[in-house]
Amino acid sequence: TKVFVPGDAAAVSVGADEVAAAFEAAGASVVRNGSRGMLWLEPLVEVESDRGRIGFANVEVADVLDLVSSRSHSDLLNHPGCVGVVDEHPWLTSQRRVSFARVGVVDPASIADYEAHGGWAGLRRALSLSPAEVVQEVTDSGLRGRGGAGFPAGIKWKTVLETASELKFVACNFDEGDSGTFADRMVVEGDPFTLIEGMTIAAHAVGATEGYVYVRSEYPHAVAALRRAIDAAYTHGYLGADVLGSGHSFDLHVRVGAGAYICGEESSMLDSLEGKRGEVRAKPPIPAISGLWGKPTAVNNVLTLCAVPMILADGGAAYAALGTGRSRGTQVFQLAGNIKQGGIVELPFGVSLRELVDHYGGGTLTGRPARAAQVGGPLGAYVPASGFDVPMDYEAMAEAGAMLGHGGIVLFDETVDMARMARFAMEFCSIESCGKCTPCRVGSTRGVETIDRIIAGQDVQANLVLLDDLCDTMTKGSLCAMGGLTPMPVQSAIKHFPEDFEREVAPG
Ligand code: NAI
Ligand code: SF4
Repeated sequence: TKVFVPGDAAAVSVGADEVAAAFEAAGASVVRNGSRGMLWLEPLVEVESDRGRIGFANVEVADVLDLVSSRSHSDLLNHPGCVGVVDEHPWLTSQRRVSFARVGVVDPASIADYEAHGGWAGLRRALSLSPAEVVQEVTDSGLRGRGGAGFPAGIKWKTVLETASELKFVACNFDEGDSGTFADRMVVEGDPFTLIEGMTIAAHAVGATEGYVYVRSEYPHAVAALRRAIDAAYTHGYLGADVLGSGHSFDLHVRVGAGAYICGEESSMLDSLEGKRGEVRAKPPIPAISGLWGKPTAVNNVLTLCAVPMILADGGAAYAALGTGRSRGTQVFQLAGNIKQGGIVELPFGVSLRELVDHYGGGTLTGRPARAAQVGGPLGAYVPASGFDVPMDYEAMAEAGAMLGHGGIVLFDETVDMARMARFAMEFCSIESCGKCTPCRVGSTRGVETIDRIIAGQDVQANLVLLDDLCDTMTKGSLCAMGGLTPMPVQSAIKHFPEDFEREVAPG
C-alpha cells in the first residue's frame, strides 16, 4: 500500500510523524507530502487506489492497521474519517491553485516527481529568452510583490537588470513574520523546487549569479526541505556553474535568521544577511540599486518567486487573465484565528472576505457570530463583520482603509475586546521596533501607556485625542512600515468599535 502522510509542520504538530512511523512499521510505502492546506483535517492521510488518492481525516496511530488492511475501495470509503478522493474535495476543486498547484500532491523530496508534475518548464523557457524578455513576461503577467506591499515585480526586476554591476544578487525574503500567515512555509515544505526554479529564473532575468534565501529559525522543517532540494538541484544541473548547459551560473545559499520580526523588512534582512544586527536602512537607495553588500539586489517574497515558474511556463498573459483591476493573478489566502476550517485558499483576486471567512472558513470555531477579521498581519486593519463584503484586491482594500498584506486573515468572534487588540498592536511594535527612529521606538511605548489609561477609564476622550495624534506622528514620521503601519490596527479598532474604548468605568 502506498500512503501519503504530510510532513508539513502543521500536520507534524498534531501527530503526523507518529502516524507515518506506524504506517512504515505496518509495511506501507510512505511518502511525506506537503499539506493540502485543509488544516482542520490534519493529519490527512491519503491512500493510493485505482480511483485516486483517498483521504482520511485526523488519522491517529490506532487507525493505521485498519487502513493498511483495507482490501477494497468500499472498505476504504466506509472507513470512519474518509473524506473521499482528495482531488475531488469541493474545498480544493473550487480553488484556483497556481502557486500551490503541486503542494500536497508531489513528494517534496523527489526532483523527478517535480519534473513529472510540470516542474522546470518555466526555467527551460526562461533560459531560451533574453533577460529583458523574461522581465517583460513578468511585467505582462501583472505580478505584484506578495510580501505585502504589492510593488510590481517586473519593474523591480527591470531596475536590477538595468543597473550595471559586475556582481548582482537575488534574495528571497522567507522571514514570514506576520501573525496568521503560513503560506511561505507551506509552499517550501510541500514544493521546495518551485522556489528554487523561481529564484533561478529571477537570477537569469536580472543578471545575478548568487542567491540567498533568508528563512526564519522558527521554520526548521522548511529549512530541511529546502536544503535537501537545493542539494538535488545542484546534482541535477539546475543550480551551479552552468545551469542546464546555458552558460549561466547561479549559486543558492540558505541563511537562517534569529527571531527578529524587523529582519523581514527588506533592508534589515540585507543587514542580517551581511552578518550585522538587523536594522532598517534609510531609502533611497533602494535594494534594487544598492542592496546586499552594496550591489543591485532583487529582493522578493517566497510567494512572488513561486508564481514565476508558472508565468514563464504558460506566459504572462495566462496569469494576467486571472484577477481583477490592477490585482492580477491569484492570492494565497491564509485562514487563521477563531475559525472552523483554517488553512490555505488560493483564488484569483477579487473574492470577498465574506466568502473566504464563511464559505471556506466555515465561520468561527466557537460558533459565535464573527465580530472582526484582521487582514494582512499584525500591522493590518481590523475589518468589522459588517464590512466583510469587501473584495480582496489591493485597491479595494486600500479604499476600505485596510490592506491585503501577505494574505493572512485572522478571525475573531463577538467576545473579542478590541481595546486589548489595539494595545497588543502597540505592544508588539514596542517589542519588535529596531529602535532606529523615534516615532516608532518611543511612540509605541507611549501608545501602550495611553491605551492602558483608556482601558482604565482615565480621561478617555482626552487620551483618545492624544492616541490619534500619536498615531498620526507614527504614520508620517516612521522610517519603515513597522512604526508606519502600527497605527492601522489601532485606528481601525477605534473607528469600528468605539464602544470598546469608551466603556464606563466605576469610580474608585
Ligand atoms: P515598500 O512599498 O517601501 O516597497 C515595496 C518593494 O518595492 C520593496 O522591495 C522596494 O525596495 C521596492 N521598490 C520601491 N520602489 C521601487 C522602484 N522605484 N524600483 C524598484 N523597486 C522599488 O514596502 P516595504 O516596506 O518593502 O513593505 C511593507 C509591507 O510589508 C507592508 O505593507 C506589509 O504588508 C508587509 N509586511 C509583510 C510581512 C510578512 O511577514 N510577509 C511582515 C511585515 C510587513
Ligand atoms: Fe526601526 Fe521602527 Fe523606525 Fe522601522 S519604524 S526603522 S522598526 S524604529
